[in-house]
Amino acid sequence: MLGGGQLGRFFVMAAHEMGYQVVVLDPDTNSPAGKIADRHLCAAYDDQDALNVLAETCAAVTTEFENVPADTLAYLAKFVPVRPGAEAVAICQNRMKEKGFLKANGLPHGPYAEIHKEDDLKTCDVSLFPAILKVARFGYDGKGQARVANREEAIAAFQGFKHEACVLEAMLPLDYEVSVVLARSASGEIKYFPVAENQHTRGILDVSIVPARASGCMMGDAQEVAATVAAKMNYIGTLGVEFFVTRGQLVVNEMAPRPHNSGHYTIDACVTDQYEQQVRALCDLPLGDASAHSAAVMVNILGDIWYLDDPHHAKEPDWAKLYAVPNLKLHLYGKHHARPGRKMGHFTVIGNDAAEVQSAALAARSAIGIRD
Ligand SMILES: Nc1ncnc2c1ncn2[C@@H]1O[C@H](COP(=O)(O)OP(=O)(O)O)[C@@H](O)[C@H]1O
Ligand SMILES: [Mg+2]
Repeated sequence: MLGGGQLGRFFVMAAHEMGYQVVVLDPDTNSPAGKIADRHLCAAYDDQDALNVLAETCAAVTTEFENVPADTLAYLAKFVPVRPGAEAVAICQNRMKEKGFLKANGLPHGPYAEIHKEDDLKTCDVSLFPAILKVARFGYDGKGQARVANREEAIAAFQGFKHEACVLEAMLPLDYEVSVVLARSASGEIKYFPVAENQHTRGILDVSIVPARASGCMMGDAQEVAATVAAKMNYIGTLGVEFFVTRGQLVVNEMAPRPHNSGHYTIDACVTDQYEQQVRALCDLPLGDASAHSAAVMVNILGDIWYLDDPHHAKEPDWAKLYAVPNLKLHLYGKHHARPGRKMGHFTVIGNDAAEVQSAALAARSAIGIRD
């Protein structure tokens, strides 16, 4: 496993359930997945010795982190199956390539311009404003993004990003956001998890609601687009595709070449979860039943709530408030240090009645001190 965050940690747990051993490569000594792996290689993603250990000791390699250098994946692929492959990850890790991929394949996406130099901001279509300037590489959870009203603000933001390559996206009026998480096997078989409706707060996923409150037709269309994305990339593994619904139309926002935060709910609400699907696809096993046995609402727990009483001293939240809620499952990632905006855990409320699940989850969310 390349990468050792919470997505990798859930993968390790799923692999252990199935009797596998996992080696995790992650440069962080406190990596959540590294701590529970059979072996943690604490080294950079391009460390040649570490890559050789993976090549020699592993039967297959996957990733939980889209910013693993594509060269690392290509190198490992000389020795063992690497799923998803370097090309798919290279597309998803670069917003410019990602947009180019959508355009080339006739897939719906919002208006945008490639920004390589300041001049591109002076000459781009004025109808893109108000817009969001996003660095092409290494942005996540709203980082490396600036909302800009006009060309002047865009130029200032571009300078702030040290003239790094960016995409400028028109700010779209969002009806709501949904995501499709699917698994695709080496033979091209696809299993879809139910579509999630996602609410973001300050650019970070806050709440996922399943089933999404979208029409069946809209959800079917989203799944079809996601399947085309996967097939065109020859994707093998679990894939997340984020969509905007804007003026009733679906457009792809971005793709994640790994399990997705909005798919955490599958752990508690589906027959097979997104991590087990990743293991199955990696190991050439039949994909599992991805259907949900319950309605679910997932709430992300960020480090902010460690600082509700004192902004300078972290205090562990009172988890008993969550454990007291029936049908609520709490998942904490074992991260050492809580920081505002850092994903520390999540909880999922499940049940038969979608409206009841939603009100219970939102009540638990405010009880633990999460603010809008
Ligand atoms: N072009 C856009 N128009 C409107 N909202 C946007 C746009 N781009 C991003 N957002 C909002 O910001 C969130 C995070 O942006 P995204 O590009 O998905 O970055 P990240 O990699 O941090 O998830 C989106 O889920 C959406 O709520
Ligand atoms: Mg996103």
